[in-house]
Amino acid sequence: MIVILLGPPGSGKGTQARVVCQELGNVPQLATGDMLREAKRAGTLERHYLDVMDAGGLLPDEAVVGLIERRIAEPDCSRGFLLDGFPRSTGQAQALDEMLSKRSLNIDAVVLLDVPRTLLEERVIHRRIDKAGGQIYHLLYNPPPPNVELEHRADDRSEAVKKRLDSYEAITAALLPFYEQRGLLRQIDGVGTPEDVTRRIMVAITDPEYLVQGGKYTG
Ligand code: AP5
Repeated sequence: MIVILLGPPGSGKGTQARVVCQELGNVPQLATGDMLREAKRAGTLERHYLDVMDAGGLLPDEAVVGLIERRIAEPDCSRGFLLDGFPRSTGQAQALDEMLSKRSLNIDAVVLLDVPRTLLEERVIHRRIDKAGGQIYHLLYNPPPPNVELEHRADDRSEAVKKRLDSYEAITAALLPFYEQRGLLRQIDGVGTPEDVTRRIMVAITDPEYLVQGGKYTG
């Protein structure tokens, strides 16, 4: 199965992607944000891209398309995969279509996590990440255990968060009609416990009745 997880910063893509990948039989999670942060840690991300990312801007398409193209050519992706944070522009969506079509693959579902903007800012500003394991925490709703070394992402500071949310609304939200016209878009209420949200996603991906009902699934 090939699933795209779409949603604004802080909507819960990373939190959900880990669990949904397990539910889908341990398919790989292809997260461009994680790949770029890994390159940053390894010192291989171009300085200019690093500055754009830390300030909350989107990288140009050519900085991420090749990453995904190389990743989906790896053997573990033959069982399917989940895309988290890609595509994020119409150019990226078209590039994805081309790379899938070369392999005779199709997108099965595009899941949009719908969360109000006020809640998004609050979620992102309180996010902390376990440096070693990558587990995502929220200082209030899902606090980390003691003695875990935590990372506070450079782009999780207030000004950068606003810029990321604006970029989402100006650029990434244009993808919604692109996938809706093709009958692939499933809009999910992203407010609730993480477990509730996972259940909604799994229904949207696997239940044929969902396609009949359409609209936003809140069950
Ligand atoms: P990326 O890493 O993809 O960041 P993002 O899309 O901005 O998304 P986030 O990671 O901020 O949020 P999330 O939706 O994963 O939420 P999370 O689960 O962590 O990209 C970072 C940057 O890289 C971009 O700005 C850009 O510069 C660059 N980039 C990446 N991909 C690119 C591309 N394709 N093209 C160009 N540039 C690209 O949850 C957030 C918080 O909420 C956590 O604290 C969590 O604990 C909490 N939470 C989650 N679910 C719930 C819940 N149900 N209830 C309460 N709290 C919850």
